[in-house]
Amino acid sequence: MPDPVRTTRLPSGIDVPVLGLGTWKMGEDRRRHADEVAALKLGLDLGMTLVDTAEMYASGGSEEVVREAIAGRRDAVFLVSKVLPSNSSRASTMRACEASLKRLGTDRLDLYLLHWRGGVPLAETVQAFETLKAAGKILNWGVSNFDTEDMEELTDSDGSAVQTNQVLYNLSARGIEYDLLPQAVARGLPLMAYSPVGQGDLTTDGRIGKVAARHGVSAAQVALAWVMRHPHVIAIPKATRPEHVRDNRAALDLKLTPADLAELDAAFPPPRRKQRLEMI
Ligand SMILES: NC(=O)c1ccc[n+]([C@@H]2O[C@H](COP(=O)([O-])OP(=O)(O)OC[C@H]3O[C@@H](n4cnc5c(N)ncnc54)[C@H](OP(=O)(O)O)[C@@H]3O)[C@@H](O)[C@H]2O)c1
Repeated sequence: MPDPVRTTRLPSGIDVPVLGLGTWKMGEDRRRHADEVAALKLGLDLGMTLVDTAEMYASGGSEEVVREAIAGRRDAVFLVSKVLPSNSSRASTMRACEASLKRLGTDRLDLYLLHWRGGVPLAETVQAFETLKAAGKILNWGVSNFDTEDMEELTDSDGSAVQTNQVLYNLSARGIEYDLLPQAVARGLPLMAYSPVGQGDLTTDGRIGKVAARHGVSAAQVALAWVMRHPHVIAIPKATRPEHVRDNRAALDLKLTPADLAELDAAFPPPRRKQRLEMI
């Protein structure tokens, strides 16, 4: 058995793994189905028990892949899904959640996120989340792609129960370090970093590769270890190839030195001023 994956604490007091499994683009092609299920099962076997999906991914197809992967081990998984902004009115959120639960083959989500901000008043979506929570359909809720002002507005909309904000964060997208990350830390709110290996681009970056070579590891591991260097950041890389899943798990064993971090800062400078939150 591998060592347990390090955890971070949500405001509700629940400890979640700092390294999970992304699932965007899964469920799109039947020919990849078995590989996708196998990759997620391998990730779970290796202790990456936080699984991130969304009703949007493959129009529910990703959730169906996840259902197969978690079958028989639901209780060992911290399951995250997301509601589309176009479904985030009170009635539609209820319906969307039921549909996600059905596709996932479960009676509850551990965390339900608003995928990004749309036209529905935040207070209405928060109310829907709280109703779902009271009914035991979701255990926690949070948001995604929220910038600092959105987070402030959320708190003003009875949104103090928010558990996380899932945002783009990797070596080439560091804007959140200026304000969103400090704001989250001040509230004891972990952030979830999506696209932590830049959708694959960072895994072949020569500047990261140089640091990786010194440690005898892959650039992907450096990119992930860098994201997870922060105690309040959870990384959710997506990997279908089993060697990628194993490689990502091993990133937890990599400790970047101050010299590594300085070299990465020089190649990927931290923000010096407010940058609008980027979204993929
Ligand atoms: N909330 C949002 O708006 C939002 C937006 C984007 C993503 N997300 C979530 O975040 C997850 C991760 O983001 P992402 O999928 O955009 O990008 P990502 O995880 O940064 O990159 C995924 C790509 O990198 C490759 N890869 C993974 N590990 C690798 C390794 N060790 N070595 C080489 N290549 C590797 C994968 O290849 P293989 O698949 O071939 O193994 C895949 O092509 C998503 O799946 C989704 O769950 C959320």
